[in-house]
Amino acid sequence: MTLAGKHIVLGISGGIAAYKTPFLVRQLVQNGAEVETVLTRSAAEFVTPTTLAALTGRPPRSALFDIEAEAAMGHIELARWADTLVIAPATAHTIGRLAAGLADDLLTTLALATPAPLFLAPAMNQQMWAHVAVQENIRALRARGVGIIGPDAGEQACGDVGPGRMSEPETIIDHLQTLHAQKPLEGKLTGRKIVITAGPTREPIDPVRYISNHSSGKQGYAMAAAARAAGAEVVLISGPTRLETPAGVRRVDVESATDMMKATQAELEQTDVFIGVAAVADYRPAEPKDRKIKRESSGDISIEMTMNPDIIRSVAESAARPTVVVGFAAETNDAIQHARDKRLRKGLDLIVVNDVSRKDIGFNTDENAATLISDDKEVTLSKQSKDSLAGAIVEAIVELLGES
Ligand code: PMT
Repeated sequence: MTLAGKHIVLGISGGIAAYKTPFLVRQLVQNGAEVETVLTRSAAEFVTPTTLAALTGRPPRSALFDIEAEAAMGHIELARWADTLVIAPATAHTIGRLAAGLADDLLTTLALATPAPLFLAPAMNQQMWAHVAVQENIRALRARGVGIIGPDAGEQACGDVGPGRMSEPETIIDHLQTLHAQKPLEGKLTGRKIVITAGPTREPIDPVRYISNHSSGKQGYAMAAAARAAGAEVVLISGPTRLETPAGVRRVDVESATDMMKATQAELEQTDVFIGVAAVADYRPAEPKDRKIKRESSGDISIEMTMNPDIIRSVAESAARPTVVVGFAAETNDAIQHARDKRLRKGLDLIVVNDVSRKDIGFNTDENAATLISDDKEVTLSKQSKDSLAGAIVEAIVELLGES
């Protein structure tokens, strides 16, 4: 019963994959969730309201202006009731309406009106999925924090082969379970704004070359997901990564340390917690060239480097200093001593030190191990997934905020 008591609104749009939704509903209910179904106009062509009503014990809803349904639970009430809104299948048309922010039926209105995380399980012909219009809409939705599940690749109902099949109900349930897994922290950061930097920065040498590092962004994105799961409003200032934005998180994309600094300062007002997970380049080429440096004309070259701003230090020294400032320390030797010094030098409340000389943790791995150093405590956390480490760090932050 991993979703016990969770209120799930399942939106169904009109595609052949809607035949899978009764199985999804059944598994949600078996996992203890309370489910309300909302159909677009064409969804009822593919799955019957009678089946859904039998499985959920509640009549499915469809129309925005249905007096009887509104009397039972108004659509804004339904938007507030939801712990999660999942749209499966999400057709190209529904994805387009969501990306445009339309509210022309009950489902799209709910998507705008609910504070709950939104997940989409796209399903469509592979050529449609590959279309630039659909991909741009998906990118825009991801950047707004919408979770995209799948689609899977394989043989399609139309006979084509490729990506576009709706993910299996088990996969969708897995995503929801992960979202709702961090129960002890649930609501602990509600009303708090948390700004997190993640990933590498890229410092241009010329229009085609840059200096960067091995950060994948995984630890920073895991922090963002954990803070969001604890109820915070999360802004993720991200260097270039290949990762999906965690559901419900607002992402600001940057390239260089200078961009990251500007984006951080723009977000600082009213921020309760700042977490610097990004591997910010300490130096950048002093004078990036406007044109590509040519091998034949240059021979050996040297690049003069100039110091980048220290973002986290400027946050800690700012007049708008967040209540809690957390840094990460990437160390290769004498890790604890270097991290203790770094915490004091940068004016941080907490520093999370990880040993980046190890191949199995730190940069570009799925697992990490760290020591958390604050004013009065040093706690060592053994190797575990970056998600679970992020949960432990959020717990420490909750404690520092005095909210435990
Ligand atoms: O992204 P992954 O592949 O998941 O890898 C995770 C990680 C190894 C990058 C992460 O766990 C980590 O250690 N991040 C900090 C990397 C780093 O730049 O450490 P540092 O010791 O050089 O910097 C200390 C702190 O100052 C960090 O919070 C950093 O964000 C901040 N900093 C550093 C330089 C700078 N110019 N401005 C900063 O704000």
